[in-house]
Amino acid sequence: MDNTVYPLDRLISHKGIGIPRFLYGTAWKEAQTEALTYNAIKAGFLGIDTANQRRHYFEAGVGNAVKQAITERWVQRPQLFLQSKFTFVSSQDDRLPYDPQADFSTQVQQSFASSLEHLHTDYLDSYILHGPSTGQGLGDADWEVWREMERLHKTGAVKLLGISNVNIGQLQALISQAEIKPAFVQNRCYARTQWDAKIRGLCQEHDVIYQGFSLLTANAGELQKPGIVKIARRLGCTVPQLVFRFAMQLGMIPLTGTSNGQNMCDDLASHDLPALTQAEMDVIGRIAL
Ligand SMILES: NC(=O)c1ccc[n+]([C@@H]2O[C@H](COP(=O)([O-])OP(=O)(O)OC[C@H]3O[C@@H](n4cnc5c(N)ncnc54)[C@H](OP(=O)(O)O)[C@@H]3O)[C@@H](O)[C@H]2O)c1
Repeated sequence: MDNTVYPLDRLISHKGIGIPRFLYGTAWKEAQTEALTYNAIKAGFLGIDTANQRRHYFEAGVGNAVKQAITERWVQRPQLFLQSKFTFVSSQDDRLPYDPQADFSTQVQQSFASSLEHLHTDYLDSYILHGPSTGQGLGDADWEVWREMERLHKTGAVKLLGISNVNIGQLQALISQAEIKPAFVQNRCYARTQWDAKIRGLCQEHDVIYQGFSLLTANAGELQKPGIVKIARRLGCTVPQLVFRFAMQLGMIPLTGTSNGQNMCDDLASHDLPALTQAEMDVIGRIAL
């Protein structure tokens, strides 16, 4: 596996834009979204991930938290990295942020405008295609959406573009045919695929930053293995902290959606753990083999 060690500064710089090393994810929090997002910003998270997909996210609650944190001067808007997503109708419930009869370009425009309104901002730092419209390849719908995202990028309303839930063929197609290349891939990250090694490899080749989610929940069995527990003991940290530190050392931006205040602080502190040795990186990288 690739074991390039990236500098672990608090921000990654991509095309001159600072991106936090760790993102706070806001899915599945419903009525708690506002309070938890506010707590996360107060705890020190500068990167917030959401989506205009009411089925799993309450974007307006995220926006209220952002507004309150800015009003109370916990943070200023330019310091925050706000990321949202466009979601096709097949992954939405009936609370749609656009007219489903409209063409895809219009759907993106409407969804994006609604995200800006929810988040009380006039630009997004990152805008993500939540997932391609089909399991294999990229279809006309995906390209129409991506072209509209490119137009938003060109207006300056969004700084960076990305795609989520992609396989290797889809990512290759996007990288080779997009006018504005993706800056991010956001994928569920399984230990059993050596932590999405193929996709991460392609990302590294093309200067795409990999954001990993479900690092804990998708790997519950692997994270109990003695090899991992032993490394956590050496570092004097928890297993979740070890996984996040490992992810950062691989060059990944991890997401955490913890609802627990202590876990928010502990997760952020994983950034400051001592570097893992190459042998330790290999043990965790190959833990599922
Ligand atoms: N693009 C997509 O399709 C997609 C899909 C899924 C998720 N996401 C994004 O990724 C974010 C994170 O989602 P996730 O799937 O990784 O799961 P998650 O929401 O972060 O859930 C983590 C689970 O592990 C528990 N946990 C125990 N110790 C923890 C620790 N130290 N730190 C963090 N969690 C700990 C948490 O419980 P406590 O709450 O009690 O800590 C929680 O039950 C989402 O909010 C969303 O923004 C994106």
